[in-house]
Amino acid sequence: MVSTSLPGGTWTLGDLTVTRFGYGAMQLAGPWVMGPPADHGGALAVLRAAVELGITHIDTSEAYGPHVTNQLIREALHPYPDSLHIVTKVGANRDQQGGWPPARDPESLRRSVHENLETLGLDVLDLVNLRLGDAAGPQPGSVAEAFETLVDLQRQGLIRHLGVSNATPEQIAEAQAIAPIVCVQNMYNLAHRQDDELIYALAEQGIAYVPFFPLGGFSPLQSSVLSTVAARLEAAPMSVALAWLLRRSPNILLIPGTSSTTHLRENVAGAALPLSDDDLAELDKIGR
Ligand SMILES: NC(=O)c1ccc[n+]([C@@H]2O[C@H](COP(=O)([O-])OP(=O)(O)OC[C@H]3O[C@@H](n4cnc5c(N)ncnc54)[C@H](OP(=O)(O)O)[C@@H]3O)[C@@H](O)[C@H]2O)c1
Repeated sequence: MVSTSLPGGTWTLGDLTVTRFGYGAMQLAGPWVMGPPADHGGALAVLRAAVELGITHIDTSEAYGPHVTNQLIREALHPYPDSLHIVTKVGANRDQQGGWPPARDPESLRRSVHENLETLGLDVLDLVNLRLGDAAGPQPGSVAEAFETLVDLQRQGLIRHLGVSNATPEQIAEAQAIAPIVCVQNMYNLAHRQDDELIYALAEQGIAYVPFFPLGGFSPLQSSVLSTVAARLEAAPMSVALAWLLRRSPNILLIPGTSSTTHLRENVAGAALPLSDDDLAELDKIGR
């Protein structure tokens, strides 16, 4: 049974029902997503709190740490409740400097899927996103070989559903011509609105749009308009940013990241903040 008491209710990814309010686990690894967390017990507590709050969608990657975040999820939550769906991504490695070099050749993708299964302690991955582009954002280029490799692993029964991340509209269409996708995970928030049209197009197809960096990522959102609206509503700016995303389109799923149970609880409560049409119109000016 999936709780619908979380703000936003639920969404269906293929045959998987998830709460629209999810949790992004990337911030649980060490600084710049390298190495172990400073507070191992605190990281486990955040994951357990997320599930206790009713969250059924956790976003991760073998590249976080690397390996660290997946291992924390397994330590905190395995054996997983049936309602919990862990979404992972493949397509990038980590280098010694903490960079994210692409790893989208068939052998790297196969290895990464098997590593995710191993570190998460699963026989099947619920949803795997193919991460494209680079740290600067989506980059043009064919996804066919990489996506077909994941489709092959799906046919082998190792993956339930597929998605793409950091992708251009052309790459999304190219992937969809090969096999169905259930979500797109791209950078999007109040201040970065490059995917406005894409979100509508995906909503019409019943495909989820999962913004990464919903709170600004490594550079938390800062905007005088956001501060003004938040002050008027007597709410935290992060709450306003999350409530705005939930109102933005029904196919948007939230995966805000935090390493703090206090922030996690604040975010869950804050995303329920009611926003008036006037608030929305004012917030709309930020990214336009
Ligand atoms: N597909 C991709 O290429 C890609 C790229 C990046 C991220 N992701 C996914 O997207 C998820 C979300 O991204 P993200 O975690 O990097 O960025 P984010 O959710 O935009 O922001 C996280 C940052 O906000 C802070 N924060 C969270 N709640 C707060 C609150 N209530 N008050 C003040 N600060 C707060 C966190 O610090 P504290 O830890 O101190 O709370 C953290 O520094 C990741 O976990 C990851 O799963 C995917």
